[in-house]
Amino acid sequence: MEAVKTIMLMIISAGVQATALLQDDPCNNYKMLYDDGGRSIKCDLYYSESHDRFIDEGWRRVQLQPTGEDLNMPTQCVPHGYCGSHSNVWLNGSHPTVEDGKVDKMGGLSTHPTVEDGIVDRIGCLSTHPTVEDGIVNRMGCLSMFSSCCKAKYPIKIKNCSDYNVYNLKRTFGSDERYCFGEAVCFYAAVERILHFFQKLRNTNED
Ligand SMILES: *[C@@H]1O[C@H](CO)[C@@H](O)[C@H](O)[C@H]1NC(C)=O
Ligand SMILES: *[C@@H]1O[C@H](CO)[C@@H](O)[C@H](O)[C@H]1NC(C)=O
Repeated sequence: MEAVKTIMLMIISAGVQATALLQDDPCNNYKMLYDDGGRSIKCDLYYSESHDRFIDEGWRRVQLQPTGEDLNMPTQCVPHGYCGSHSNVWLNGSHPTVEDGKVDKMGGLSTHPTVEDGIVDRIGCLSTHPTVEDGIVNRMGCLSMFSSCCKAKYPIKIKNCSDYNVYNLKRTFGSDERYCFGEAVCFYAAVERILHFFQKLRNTNED
């Protein structure tokens, strides 16, 4: 009877641990960040103007609002005045890949762990269980201003969740700084701008 009880307790505790691990994994625990195309590298200030001074910090999956397309940060310097802000933050570094994720606990030579950290090669007594952090890479976001492509740096954590990436974003210091995502033509942002224009016109006429 005691043995059965012990086994039951072990099963329950393993279950609780596994659930905790699942919840800690940013691939299962992120907030959506919807964009109307204003963050695109093709969208200049004329069509969209915003900032990330008050962005809700934490893990974000970024999608183009009308289409549901997952968006990634550009990995090359974007000229200032794009991404719908005066200054923009681009990713100075690469995105994690699934192959990168195979963590080799022996050599410590692997530098870019990713998604497949679930699939970890382990050897003998050196093995430890893969942790959620294994799949997360630290990257640098560069602030592009008129004077420089990397005027300031923002730490960004990224994890490859196979079909999409999740980004851990911090609030920007300035209220004219915004994270770049995607390369859509800023059609939707432009449409919104035009709608606003007519709305204002109508309101003025009604006054
Ligand atoms: C994740 O990594 C794999 C390669 O291992 C790549 O094919 C895939 O595009 C990556 N996912 C994203 C969203 O970048
Ligand atoms: C990107 O980061 C590297 C260092 O990690 C730096 O040498 C390089 O200048 C940066 N790129 C730009 C455009 O500033």
